[in-house]
Amino acid sequence: MATLEPERAKLDTTTPNEGRIADYFLGGKDNFAADRAAAEHALAIAPELPALAREGRRFLGRAVRFLAEAGIRQFIDIGCGLPTQGNVHEIAHSIAPDARVVYIDNDPMVVVHGQALLQDNERTVVIEADARDPARMLTHPGLTSMIDLDEPVAILLFAVLHSLPDDDVATHVVTHLRKAIAPGSYVALSHAVSDLCPKKTAKLAAVYQAQGTITGGRRGNLRTKAEVERFFDGLDLVEPGVVYLPLWRPGDDLHHSPDSTWVVGGVGRKPRRPREGPAFTRS
Ligand SMILES: C[S@@+](CC[C@H](N)C(=O)[O-])C[C@H]1O[C@@H](n2cnc3c(N)ncnc32)[C@H](O)[C@@H]1O
Repeated sequence: MATLEPERAKLDTTTPNEGRIADYFLGGKDNFAADRAAAEHALAIAPELPALAREGRRFLGRAVRFLAEAGIRQFIDIGCGLPTQGNVHEIAHSIAPDARVVYIDNDPMVVVHGQALLQDNERTVVIEADARDPARMLTHPGLTSMIDLDEPVAILLFAVLHSLPDDDVATHVVTHLRKAIAPGSYVALSHAVSDLCPKKTAKLAAVYQAQGTITGGRRGNLRTKAEVERFFDGLDLVEPGVVYLPLWRPGDDLHHSPDSTWVVGGVGRKPRRPREGPAFTRS
């Protein structure tokens, strides 16, 4: 495992954290009382959240498999969350044992757990960095020791951009990453959206913001599907485009109804020549 920088943010167990709430939804044990209280509060509004978390992990699995089969050998998983079943490196290595994976999170607990799990894995590193400073993140020595940004890479932003409610910040992050990656690279992301049940998602947005789970900006509601599609500007969208998660290349994996899965996902490829807006590509 690559060397990690010694400086570390303090673990705050009193403020609920999205990664630890997701861990609770997925049946994990790496969460604290504040996380469980926040999770229960959210569950009272949207009891389907654990099913959505599982659906999110299934989408992650299909997307990473697609990327590895498309020839990608470098993965940067931003907002990776706590290790669970079907982690990015496990899926990528099942197809391409030589694939290199950098996990990034700004929660020290996520980083400590990931490092403990992966200490013997030469092709994987876990680093602590904040996605809101993409320039710093991409020059982190743990990342640069593992990833060659002159070669194609997959940027993974699963269930993390909705933690950045300030549109300027989220757009800055995605634009910076898109410019930094080589042509032939991919961006894969998932994002909860407000379209299907706007009252419910507005309530949830308010709860998460009041609890301090989401910082650095306020929104009255989650982004819409159309707003999420704009994160793919300048990329060629892989079919079927930005869709509700169960509809993204489900194969035999259709578990959950698209009508009740208010999370969308998509995969875009950086073309050889920059584009103005999203476009579809066959793969
Ligand atoms: C809901 S979890 C998603 C975990 C995983 N990507 C998945 O899809 O299952 C969101 C993760 O993003 C992390 N996160 C939130 N804001 C972040 C930021 N500004 N920089 C880095 N990580 C962030 C949280 O700590 C959390 O682990």
